[in-house]
Amino acid sequence: GEATRRDFLYIATGAVGAVGVGALAWPFINQMNPDASALALASIEVDVSNVAEGQQIKVMWRGKPLFIRNRTDKEVEEAKAVDISELRDPLARNLNLPADAQATDENRAAGGAEGGGADLGEKLLIMVGVCTHLGCIPLGESGDFDGWFCPCHGSHYDTAGRIRKGPAPENLLIPPYKFTSETVVTIG
Ligand code: FES
Repeated sequence: GEATRRDFLYIATGAVGAVGVGALAWPFINQMNPDASALALASIEVDVSNVAEGQQIKVMWRGKPLFIRNRTDKEVEEAKAVDISELRDPLARNLNLPADAQATDENRAAGGAEGGGADLGEKLLIMVGVCTHLGCIPLGESGDFDGWFCPCHGSHYDTAGRIRKGPAPENLLIPPYKFTSETVVTIG
């Protein structure tokens, strides 16, 4: 739909700067480490300052898509308004936090990440874009909860990437990351 088209157009234009650091790093890493298995362990750096409010970029990390979304205030408010006792999956699924951390919006968003990101922290959401049902790639700004919708079997995730409806058992995974400046996040 429209959201997908917008994601694509954004990737084709504005996101070039945002993923530039990571994109340049790949050939360099490749030269240094001819063994392809080393790439599977590589970290990526992304300058998130180029991700406009209400936009999402996708970058590849260890062979999987990552969604990096600069959420609108409305999206953040919707996520914060959710009673977490009603969530199917009560866990944050955030690899930066203890395994028993609860799925509050604070524990899902980048605000608590090591090293900063102060300007964007609460609004920024960084997730592995792989449906926890059978691994399809959900579509942004879709579904009943203004979040993500998986077209394969109809799972709906909210604006914090938490599963709300459909067959998926878990919230979308948050990868390990830290801010290495106010705007650059190192993932992995
Ligand atoms: Fe997403 Fe089945 S893979 S709903």
